[in-house]
Amino acid sequence: MGNGQREYWQSRIGLILAVAGNAIGLGNFLRFPVQAAKNGGGAFMIPYFVALLLLGIPLMWAEWAMGRYSGQHGHGTLPDTFHRMWKHPAAKYFGVLGVFLPLAIVIYYTYIESWTLAYSWFAATGKYAGITTREGMGGFLKSFQGLEQGVFTSIAAAYAFFVITLGLNVWVLYRGITGGIEKLAKIAMPLLFVFAIVLVVRVLTLGTPDPAYPDRNVVNGLGFIWNPDFSKLGDVGVWLAAAGQIFFTLSLGAGMIPTYASYMKKDQDIAVNALATSTTNEFAEVILGGTIAIPVACAFFGVAGTIAIAQGGAFDLGFQSMPVIFGKIPLGAFFGSIWFLLLFFAGITSSVALASPAVAFLEDEMKLSKKAAVSVVGAVLFVCGNMVIFFLGFGFLDEMDFWVGTFGIAFLGLVEAIIFAWIFGMIKGWEEITRGAEMKVPRVFYFILKYVTPLYLFVLLVTWAVKEGVGVLIMKGVEKPAEIYARWGARGLMVLLLVSICVMTWWAFKKRASDEGRGTKDDG
Ligand code: ALA
Repeated sequence: MGNGQREYWQSRIGLILAVAGNAIGLGNFLRFPVQAAKNGGGAFMIPYFVALLLLGIPLMWAEWAMGRYSGQHGHGTLPDTFHRMWKHPAAKYFGVLGVFLPLAIVIYYTYIESWTLAYSWFAATGKYAGITTREGMGGFLKSFQGLEQGVFTSIAAAYAFFVITLGLNVWVLYRGITGGIEKLAKIAMPLLFVFAIVLVVRVLTLGTPDPAYPDRNVVNGLGFIWNPDFSKLGDVGVWLAAAGQIFFTLSLGAGMIPTYASYMKKDQDIAVNALATSTTNEFAEVILGGTIAIPVACAFFGVAGTIAIAQGGAFDLGFQSMPVIFGKIPLGAFFGSIWFLLLFFAGITSSVALASPAVAFLEDEMKLSKKAAVSVVGAVLFVCGNMVIFFLGFGFLDEMDFWVGTFGIAFLGLVEAIIFAWIFGMIKGWEEITRGAEMKVPRVFYFILKYVTPLYLFVLLVTWAVKEGVGVLIMKGVEKPAEIYARWGARGLMVLLLVSICVMTWWAFKKRASDEGRGTKDDG
């Protein structure tokens, strides 16, 4: 810490809820159902569970172990962790990814999160009550985002909700680990589960809402999302999508888990805690996330209509079809507002986690106070958030999401697996994972983490590079000059952030070395 003692999680339940909150996010309720529906329904669950077992769980243990390891020395981000695990001058710069990626993700994540807060308000106040079609709700969303004129004539409302959402995030971060993040998780997580269960019960009791369309019902909706289409298993894109979803939903490869785990005590259990949070996340994703949005869309729009919605992406499902559906059922304003409030709680417990590595980096490496660190991060999010807001229609957000939210996290996952299992070494790594363990970690994971996880990730990344990488790099299919400029702008912003964090890392480690030389360093 910059000033004073490093904080620790106050209670075990607080730790589990905070890490579950970190993982359970918009990815569980918006991204997962769309990915499953687009990639073979029930068949998608095969590569999904394979990725969970061979990538998700082992890396989760490794990330907890890395975080607790650095935390013992008073540091909570990957530049320090990698530097300790790999005595090479380049190590810390690989670790920079663990600060850069979550920071870049939270720049646009906060904006999407602010839509959920806005829509919860709109649902409760009847702002979109008269709109009965998906197209109509699409227009509502676009006018809200300032992309066209409609119900909203300016971007003012979206901007105001963004500022409120960012302000709430900053406030939670200011209050620190126990007073902010842990407290938030203890309130938001139980409420999220209550809301989700209420919505699941509502969806499952919908039956056939319109007797004129007997095949539009929840059972067919569940069938659509869960009936396996095995022909999809030969498609490498489906395996990539499944691995990407596991990374995104478990918050892996983004430096977020190590930062949270760095606030643990030296011998505190990792094995059970990591498993408990992963299981909670999977329950929220597969059982709750899988039972709400897609089945309800099938009940109202039929399977063909839902496929069309899913092709449009997570936003079309969450922000266009769901409000229309809630408009058609009794107490729709109530169900609509709890749906969006659920998304908001899922979002905010993840966004504070996404911002945490940058805050911890400024505290631990740049020796800023908590308040100064949070202020800097808040200012960066505000300035960069404006770019996302005003260039939304030009692919700015999509460009960032691809590089940091899809490719970047898988790449950092591979780097972590190599450094942890091969450079630090699995013998020491296993010792870290199992020290203080309250369960016997199956020995097979020793071999999975050493051989299977890195190889699996390597093959996925190479396949992806061959299949799609070049096209994405040269912006294939992007025609409009304004969009090309905006996407280059997004790339420029990401490079600027990355280089800035590299420079700060260089400075911090130079200072650390000279302090150590003078014998003034206290944390090793
Ligand atoms: N894991 C978080 C989510 O699912 C980032 O949204």
